Amino acid sequence: MVTSGGRTSIILVAVISCLFVGQASGLYVGFYAATCPNAESIILETLKTFLASDPTLGGPLLRISYHDCFVRGCDASLLLNSVNGNVAEKDAPGPNLNSVRGYEVYDGIKAALESSCPGVVSCADIIQIVSRDITVLDGGPSWEVQTGRRDGFTSIAAEALANLVGPDSDYDTQKNAFASKGLSEKDLVVLTGAHTIGRSRCVSIDQRLYNFSGVQGLTDPSLDVSFARELKATCPSGSSNTLEMDGTQFKFDTRYFQRLEVNKGLFSSDASLITQPFPASVVDQETHKDTFFADFPESMIKLAALEVLTGSDGEIRNHCAFVNS
Ligand code: HEM
Ligand SMILES: *[C@@H]1O[C@H](CO)[C@@H](O)[C@H](O)[C@H]1NC(C)=O
Repeated sequence: MVTSGGRTSIILVAVISCLFVGQASGLYVGFYAATCPNAESIILETLKTFLASDPTLGGPLLRISYHDCFVRGCDASLLLNSVNGNVAEKDAPGPNLNSVRGYEVYDGIKAALESSCPGVVSCADIIQIVSRDITVLDGGPSWEVQTGRRDGFTSIAAEALANLVGPDSDYDTQKNAFASKGLSEKDLVVLTGAHTIGRSRCVSIDQRLYNFSGVQGLTDPSLDVSFARELKATCPSGSSNTLEMDGTQFKFDTRYFQRLEVNKGLFSSDASLITQPFPASVVDQETHKDTFFADFPESMIKLAALEVLTGSDGEIRNHCAFVNS
């Protein structure tokens, strides 16, 4: 009786939060409350063990929310391996191949979850819980992650290339890419605030430093001159070095936005956010910690609800890199 009463109230809470919070996505907070009540703590503890041996995994793991959700929705399609001549998203040169990493973390988390609650927690949900946890561990805001996503069957490299814009993109290109996913200009500015953590490879700024607009030898004139000099010292042309995105790679703070305002954005895509009045006004608001820490969770919840599979669509993968056989 107690159990069924408990279950009834969990279901009631679920239905209510679905109606009032989950919008049309079908996701809601507490999807695993009855079926895998320790899912989030298992995820966090396993994540911490990976971070203890490589703290730089935080950047790529937060980035993966974006790279998964913009391609076929948040269905963990990014985590699937290439098979039988099909080149999967993770092997798309440019956005993913040799750039995104940390896939072994999902495999470790998935294995830990399978031993507690086999066949229950989707890889797509793990991605979103991990992103929230990384944000919190780096000193950023927390939020409740809506769950109930299911995993997709398909992963195609060409779709990653078509949906993920590059670091040399101008503002309108980024705006249109986000608009095509139902995300606003404000979401674009706020979500790129994720560039407050992590690192970049020098190759991502090579054109900006040495071949701006396709002019051999030209450096982006909008870049702060002394900052450009520093960047060139760290990243000689063709270098395989890496550098911190905003100078504090483990700290989720407002430094990214502050640097944008003094022409020290790392990528052309970052710098473009102050080239038009509206995004520039959002950048200015987000330099305030309270604003950014309130807005980031809101935009992450929207990102994490893109084109999700729920109900009986998709599957719960046994291993994040493979569809179930
Ligand atoms: C139009 C928008 C965006 C562009 C053009 C862009 C581009 C890039 C590029 C070029 C890198 C460096 C990759 C490398 O050199 O290996 C990077 C890193 C990163 N991006 Fe973005 N990004 C965008 C939006 C986002 C969003 C929406 C998020 C998350 C919500 C995000 C999170 C990150 C993080 C955390 C890193 C650091 C990765 C690491 O440490 O390995 N980015 N981004
Ligand atoms: C410079 O940019 C142009 C145009 O994008 C490109 O065709 C050319 O290959 C680039 N040169 C170098 C050395 O990267």
